[in-house]
Amino acid sequence: MAILKIARMGHPVLAGIAKPVADPATPEIRRLVADMLETMIDAGGAGLAAPQVHVPLRVVVFQAPAEGDDSGSDTAPLTVLINPEIAVIGEEREAGWEGCLSVPGLRGLVERPSHIRYRGVDHEGHGIERVAKGFHARVVCHECDHLDGVLYPQRMADLKQLIFETEAHHWLPRQG
Ligand code: NI
Repeated sequence: MAILKIARMGHPVLAGIAKPVADPATPEIRRLVADMLETMIDAGGAGLAAPQVHVPLRVVVFQAPAEGDDSGSDTAPLTVLINPEIAVIGEEREAGWEGCLSVPGLRGLVERPSHIRYRGVDHEGHGIERVAKGFHARVVCHECDHLDGVLYPQRMADLKQLIFETEAHHWLPRQG
């Protein structure tokens, strides 16, 4: 395994459309997934998409850990999702603060669908189909946007809400 270099906003690989993976169960994909997981965990991210490590393929990894008493479709274990598809459920949307390993040091308030259904396969070729809400839905939408060349600032309604992490205490309720 290896920790991979993360592309930053402005690198063309982040603006392109990633290609579907023809065979998710090859050694090359297995190695890519292992390296992406190690890179995501090392960087302290909630998710990572293959274009962020300069590989233009439709592969994402993510996790949505439980916060407090959250359970069910709010949370997701460490997940590998290849060739993902997202369907929005209902019309409800919610705003939440996002960060991105390709946009280091910044946070932005982004409105996303509250409920989604997503599906794809993992790196062993097993099908995944889940309903997601809350942060779980947000991280999946954010990561899948990377596969279509979209970074979260492009989803923002008001760029006044694109801020440095170090200034977030002016905006966010104090934790704990
Ligand atoms: Ni990102």
